[in-house]
Amino acid sequence: MSHPPTTEINAENKSAWNQLYASTPESIWGREPVGFLRRHLPAASVLPPGALLDAAAGEGRNLPPLLELGRPVTACDAAAAALAKIPAALRARVTILECDLAQLPLGDAQFAFILLSDVVETLPEPATVLTEMRRLLVPGGLLLVNIPGDDDGIAGIDMQPAPGHGWLYRGRYYYHFYGRAEAEALLAAAGLALVASEVSAWDEPPHPQFRPEPHAHRSRVLLARRPAG
Ligand SMILES: C[S@@+](CC[C@H](N)C(=O)[O-])C[C@H]1O[C@@H](n2cnc3c(N)ncnc32)[C@H](O)[C@@H]1O
Repeated sequence: MSHPPTTEINAENKSAWNQLYASTPESIWGREPVGFLRRHLPAASVLPPGALLDAAAGEGRNLPPLLELGRPVTACDAAAAALAKIPAALRARVTILECDLAQLPLGDAQFAFILLSDVVETLPEPATVLTEMRRLLVPGGLLLVNIPGDDDGIAGIDMQPAPGHGWLYRGRYYYHFYGRAEAEALLAAAGLALVASEVSAWDEPPHPQFRPEPHAHRSRVLLARRPAG
């Protein structure tokens, strides 16, 4: 059986997210940072010189803790409708960029820290994106990423098989869940060295137009470094 190429799935997926954000003036993800962030965010003192990137920032719920590190922050996402919902007080303090994570219009080695929050499991082409994140990190820079497995509370809920691989939540939003070995191998294949890898659990309220019930997340949280040199 032939399947649509992942680039086609990626285009449809990005469009589905943008339509979701545009479907309501409410914030889909809320204003509290994702449940693992404050516990796993590195201190500014352990970061090399450089700016910070919230990669696929959505509506910016994770920007306040990043700004507390006292470095310039860029927020990028494919969904213009999401970026438009970042509150004015935050917009004034960050650089906002509409982007595809597979290829950002930015030079090499700009960021000391990159956050990928609730993103990798939604990407049809995660290997390309992680390689791009490595390119953007300064040598010694850190990537913080969560990658959920089949034990996440949302795995298996309203998921239909996607053509080829992965799942489509509600028939629209691409998801792929990864075991520990797969998650760590994704980072290694992108040339990133694992610093820490542990499971984190947190609860989230309903997400308007997306997930009507309060739900529990369980996800592997990984910190990885772009090796020096
Ligand atoms: C589940 S949301 C998480 C948003 C945000 N990181 C957070 O934690 O609130 C996934 C985000 O990835 C974005 N996204 C999906 N594919 C993308 C791509 N190829 N390039 C850039 N953003 C993408 C979507 O627009 C969406 O905002």
